[in-house]
Amino acid sequence: MIGIISAMQEEIQALLNELKNVQSSEKGMRTYYSGTLFDKKVVLVFSRWGKVASAATTTQLINDFNVDEIIFTGVAGSIKKDLNIGDIVIGKNLFQHDLNASPFFKKFEIPILKKEFLETKNATKLIEATTNFIKSYSSYIDKKEALVFDITTPKIVFGDIASGDKFIKSLKKIRKLNNALPTAICVEMEGAAVAQICYEYNIPFSIIRIISDKANDNATIDFSRFANSIASYYALGILKNYFED
Ligand code: ADE
Repeated sequence: MIGIISAMQEEIQALLNELKNVQSSEKGMRTYYSGTLFDKKVVLVFSRWGKVASAATTTQLINDFNVDEIIFTGVAGSIKKDLNIGDIVIGKNLFQHDLNASPFFKKFEIPILKKEFLETKNATKLIEATTNFIKSYSSYIDKKEALVFDITTPKIVFGDIASGDKFIKSLKKIRKLNNALPTAICVEMEGAAVAQICYEYNIPFSIIRIISDKANDNATIDFSRFANSIASYYALGILKNYFED
């Protein structure tokens, strides 16, 4: 069984529409949808925003659904100049940018785990699937919707992700993040929390993040629309290629 998590319902909507033999169960204010997606047994859930919500959802998913892999899919803000709206980040290392228990532990170090970041698995296969998705981009993504969000030629980047319980929307904050975590290319609010739980339960974890904004003054875009009409179809196209390989 493969677990697929997003933060928002809109980010998994296109996957939910394709899910066959659906069975749903409610636990801890979340709905877990099990079924078959492109001939693979999956369970889909949206966790809500933030590290606590996504960690709790991941724990439930692992304990109650016997998953042997977890994939997170959703949107992120870019903190690098050449990473644009519509580009796809396949996560490499996940940091919690708001974790700092110094002087007891090094900045960003997760107490007891002795790790400042957590690594993803299956990235090569995910990058391959994403490359194939880009080749058939126009069969998944509505051209007019892409233009609404200024997306022209999306690229794929394999890079580090910084997660924290903060929506980033200023150049000042971006500069701080660039200094503190120079390898991080985008920000979001769940990935590193999900990665930590997966690490603790020894479940392979990977993550797809679609850039929705540039984490600056213009970051407060229509997330519901972006997630629904762009990000969830990216997830559909990428995962179709990932599962059918
Ligand atoms: N997810 C999408 N955009 C984001 C931003 N600017 N900050 C944090 N999480 C995000």
